[in-house]
Amino acid sequence: MPFLSLIERDETRAASMASMMLCRASPLRRFIFVVTAIVPVGTAGPKAAILAYNDRPVTPFVSEKMKKRDPENTIHADLSRDSDYTGYLQLDRLLSAQVPLSEPAHHDEMLFIIQHQVAELWIKLVIHEIGGAVRFMRADQLPQAVKNLARVRHIQSQLYNQWKVLDTLTPSEYAEFRHVFGRASGFQSAQYRILEFTLGNKNRKMLGYYEHQPEWYEQLEKALESPSLYEEFLMYLARRGMAVPRHVLERDFSVVRDSDPEVIAVLRSIYENRGENWSRYETCEALMDIANNFQFWRFHHMKTVERIIGHKRGTGGSSGVTFLKKALDMEFFPELLQVRTEIGADD
Ligand code: HEM
Repeated sequence: MPFLSLIERDETRAASMASMMLCRASPLRRFIFVVTAIVPVGTAGPKAAILAYNDRPVTPFVSEKMKKRDPENTIHADLSRDSDYTGYLQLDRLLSAQVPLSEPAHHDEMLFIIQHQVAELWIKLVIHEIGGAVRFMRADQLPQAVKNLARVRHIQSQLYNQWKVLDTLTPSEYAEFRHVFGRASGFQSAQYRILEFTLGNKNRKMLGYYEHQPEWYEQLEKALESPSLYEEFLMYLARRGMAVPRHVLERDFSVVRDSDPEVIAVLRSIYENRGENWSRYETCEALMDIANNFQFWRFHHMKTVERIIGHKRGTGGSSGVTFLKKALDMEFFPELLQVRTEIGADD
């Protein structure tokens, strides 16, 4: 009996019971009861509780050996760099790309670098998966596209949850190495802009920042001028006989258009007849999730920035938090939001 607790309404009685137990505790059996506390436990319950415990567990602790697993003899041992894990994943390159600039290296700069690099890798996969979804939409295979979009949502969760790690960076720690990366800022992330363009937040002005980086410029321009994921979906709907107007589909995709009542009517008919439009309905909801997840990411970024640098200007030259807050009003798929006001409403 490693632990014994005694609860008794009457303090005097409790004290005498405890002393009786102390007397009974045989030194030979090495039981020692110790009265550790007299705890008032509320008016409705017992007036006092006396806790007594045996400070040596009766059951001796049995140390267990650390479990061991021997490698199986079929495991490959004759590995060369071009056929092994390290070679395939190019880990020599990947793991040597975290180079703190602080001198001597500031402990927290590693967190800062890895946090950005991991985000860039996930963004790369999001762009890749959206590319897959677009190919399926073009081939009129909507259920397959929905699968890619499900993956995008899971990646977005990773991107979002990542902020918790960076939230452990304090303002004083950040201030100690902030100077080393000069004007570098996430604002300059080309992949982030490509993703925004792919989701329909087109802005030609953004191209100007990449004039000195022709390889990125080309990719950004392509994303700017191509139909967005949402427009690909509308094209699919049109091919399937839904009344998406031509002026929405045949236009300069590098500019953002105004919401169109005819498109909203198409979306409404999907929601109101979801049984016959299941994959279309699922796609609408997947797009809505993706847009909201993006906003949640933006919001958490803004709050992380606020707690680390307050209202200082950003290293990229913007007003910082004030600038980031403005992005919280931007919607990728406004028609998908507007249709919600109409669904179920009396006409
Ligand atoms: C200590 C951590 C961070 C701070 C203090 C910070 C600060 C800022 C600030 C102030 C801006 C506005 C532009 C500027 O003037 O620089 C910005 C933009 C941006 N940052 Fe961060 N950031 C941090 C971490 C990250 C991380 C981990 C990512 C992930 C890739 C990221 C991605 C971005 C992006 C994409 C923008 C552009 C947002 C937009 O255009 O609305 N940031 N950041």
